[in-house]
Amino acid sequence: MTFASPVIAVDGPSGSGKGTVSHMLAEHLGWHLLDSGALYRVVGQACLMEGISWNNASAVTEVARHLDVAFRVSDAGEVLVSCKGIDVSAQIRTEEGGRGASTVAAIPTVREALLQRQREFLRPPGLVADGRDMGTVVFCAAPLKIFLTASASERAERRYKQLIAKGESVSLPRLLEDIEERDARDSNREFSPLVPAEDAIVIDSSAMPVTEVFAQVLLEVEKRGLA
Ligand code: DC
Repeated sequence: MTFASPVIAVDGPSGSGKGTVSHMLAEHLGWHLLDSGALYRVVGQACLMEGISWNNASAVTEVARHLDVAFRVSDAGEVLVSCKGIDVSAQIRTEEGGRGASTVAAIPTVREALLQRQREFLRPPGLVADGRDMGTVVFCAAPLKIFLTASASERAERRYKQLIAKGESVSLPRLLEDIEERDARDSNREFSPLVPAEDAIVIDSSAMPVTEVFAQVLLEVEKRGLA
């Protein structure tokens, strides 16, 4: 498979910093950005809105097939996500939103339903694609694949700080448990599990500031003549 425009695949578990790095990269290159996790999160949210259980595979698949989702950037530069015209940006980013996304993402027909939609994000001049299976399935011919990871305890700590800064009361051990549960579900599912592509550059960001991760990624971008 060859693409008309270049793609950089950025995969990894939640809290690895891939969202931040992908944003920085897309902005730096002036490329489009696909936050594929947001699509799975919106499917989970749409199910909640329609009273559909995340485990009802056929009903969830119908939701994914007809998903009415829109992304737009606010004047403040924030990415706003709406479902059926309703702003769901805040809801999809909660811990429950993450659990819902991870549960519906384990249904193969849901993944199939979202495949083409994800590929449609690829337009000139290029795409930074953030997810779990960007390098292994959705854009398996991407000229650069990054797999960003960090220890579960470091990722829990980062999430804890984010939520505390937002004024939420959370428990660090509970967050660690949630992260480990989500990692297990995302990594052990039969279809498109969270694994690095064979040709991915693996970066462990546990003891690295995001600026350093970004600098390393940029080096790989330059090596391939993508910028
Ligand atoms: O990247 P995120 O935390 O927003 O993703 C939420 C969940 O969606 C994640 O736990 C697994 C699922 N997901 C997936 O299975 N495949 C993707 N490409 C992106 C996300």
